[in-house]
Parts: sequence; C-alpha cells; structure tokens
Amino acid sequence: MLLEVNEISKNYGTFPALKPLSCRMESGELIGLVGSNGAGKTTFIKILSTLIKPSGGDVLLNGRSIIKNPMIMQKNIGYLPQDMAYYPNLSAVEFLMYMAALKRLSKKKAKQQVEYLLEILHLSDVKNKRLSDFSGGMKQRVGIACALLGNPEIIIVDEPTTGLDPEERITFRNLLSKLACSKIVILSTHIISDIEAAASKIMVLKKGNLMFDHTPETLLHQAQGCVWEYILPANRVNEQIAGISSMIQTEEGIKVRQVSREKPSANAVSVKANLEDACLCVLEEVFS
Ligand SMILES: Nc1ncnc2c1ncn2[C@@H]1O[C@H](COP(=O)(O)OP(=O)(O)O)[C@@H](O)[C@H]1O
Ligand SMILES: [Mg+2]
Repeated sequence: MLLEVNEISKNYGTFPALKPLSCRMESGELIGLVGSNGAGKTTFIKILSTLIKPSGGDVLLNGRSIIKNPMIMQKNIGYLPQDMAYYPNLSAVEFLMYMAALKRLSKKKAKQQVEYLLEILHLSDVKNKRLSDFSGGMKQRVGIACALLGNPEIIIVDEPTTGLDPEERITFRNLLSKLACSKIVILSTHIISDIEAAASKIMVLKKGNLMFDHTPETLLHQAQGCVWEYILPANRVNEQIAGISSMIQTEEGIKVRQVSREKPSANAVSVKANLEDACLCVLEEVFS
C-alpha cells in the first residue's frame, strides 16, 4: 500500500493546527510520529483515519482520494484513538466480539481473531472479566487488540503506551515491529524511547509544522556535534537554558546535557547524540 499525503492542512476556526504537510508512507514502514502536546499529532491522525476532513489538500491511498472516498481507508485501517471509549459492563471478549461485528467480521473469523489477539496481548486469563475492573494498561491492550481486528493493512495508534508499564511497552513495541514488516504502522508518541528501536521513519511535528521526515539514522547523523555535556557553573544555576535534554545531580555539581550548535560553556565536551537529543535538536531548531 502507498499512502500519499499532499499538502493537507487543518484549521480549527482561525487556528492553524496543521500547516500544509506532505509525506509518503509505504507498507513495511513503522512511522514514529513525534511532537510535544499540541503539536498536531492527533489532528494529523484523525485526518488519515477519515474522522475529520482537512481544510485543504488530499490524501491518496494507492492513488485514490480517501477524502472523497473515506470507505477506501475505513476498509483498510485499524485505529487506536488517544482516548478510546470502552463499555465498562462488557468483558474483554464480549467487547472485542462486539467490535468485530461492527467491523463486519464473520462470527467464526471474529472468534478466531479475538482468541488470538487476547493471547498475544496477554489478556487470555482475564478475558471474561468486566472492563470496569481493568487497569489502564489492560484497557490499553484491549484497545490495541481492537485496532488489530480484521487484520488491517494500515495501523494507526495514537499515544498507545501512555498507560503501559515498561514490560508491556516492550511487548507492544515488538508486536508493532512485527506488524510493520508488511503493513503501514503509524505510532504517535511524545516518548522517544517508544520508537527508538522500532521506527524506520520519524516524523517530527512542532506547532503544526512538519520539521523532519526521514530515517532515525539521518536524524542521528544530523545531530552529531550538537550535543554537549558540562557541569553547570554555580553562577548559572538559576539561568533559563534552552535545549536541555537532561540535568543530573552529581558530586561535582549539576551535570547538564544540552543540544546546541555552538559550544554552550567553556567546560562543555561534545558527546554522541542519541535519538532523544536528535529530536530535541529538531524541536529547538538547532540545525535549521
Ligand atoms: N476540536 C478542536 N478545536 C479547537 N482546537 C483544537 C481541536 N482539536 C485540537 N485543537 C488544537 O489543535 C492543536 C493540535 O492538537 P492535537 O492535534 O490534539 O495535538 P497533539 O495530538 O500533538 O497533542 C492544539 O493546539 C489543540 O489545542
Ligand atoms: Mg494527541
């Protein structure tokens, strides 16, 4: 599948939540959509999911407009919204069977898939419990199962790891990586470690602008030479410093890790960039 986004934009009233944005996505890609809260991730995802219409531009799936024909997308997509609604009185298995019926799966197929998804998402033991008794992470896994029902070719998950514990996060990441071998998987997050190991492409949004759209390797390469570590001199402790990626209290004082094009302090040493630094470089426009 080929998804081509051509100059889509979205205004809420007069507020431009998404500036004209173009990109391409293909089966076999896991796209990490990164940006702070309010950057426009959910807006972008809702347009791709045909839940809202863009103010301008078009999105083509294998050459056909999903804006004009939303059904083309709806047949192929599994979408996990940021704020999934559940029916608290249903059990996990009842809820998934219900959602499978909405997706028009046959009863036999639905049963097979629901059992399989409950298994791989480690929910088999609790499948007959009511969702009202589920923890945040368990509900999130039900939501993920729901997105995977019907074996869609395009999977879009909006901040899916928020309620998950570290182990669940890893399981989920591995599952998405596997799916991305043959599908388009879009994962939005503000947590870089969610996509660090898995994403084949990273899109960075800032205030509705697409700031970066390429491989993690390219992003890391661009950031080399722009990351510094130094002990913060005592007289600068109260200063507002832009581009700080971490601050650690050490025996010698506060150790700062900062992204900057120029050496930010006389005692600063250049260090190897990680993906978190590299994303911060984009957001701070260090190498623009
Ligand atoms: N329905 C809406 N009406 C008005 N403004 C909205 C609406 N939805 C989102 N926004 C605004 O658009 C911007 C982008 O929001 P969103 O796409 O939810 O960002 P993200 O998912 O990256 O946090 C934010 O400033 C948000 O307040
Ligand atoms: Mg959002």
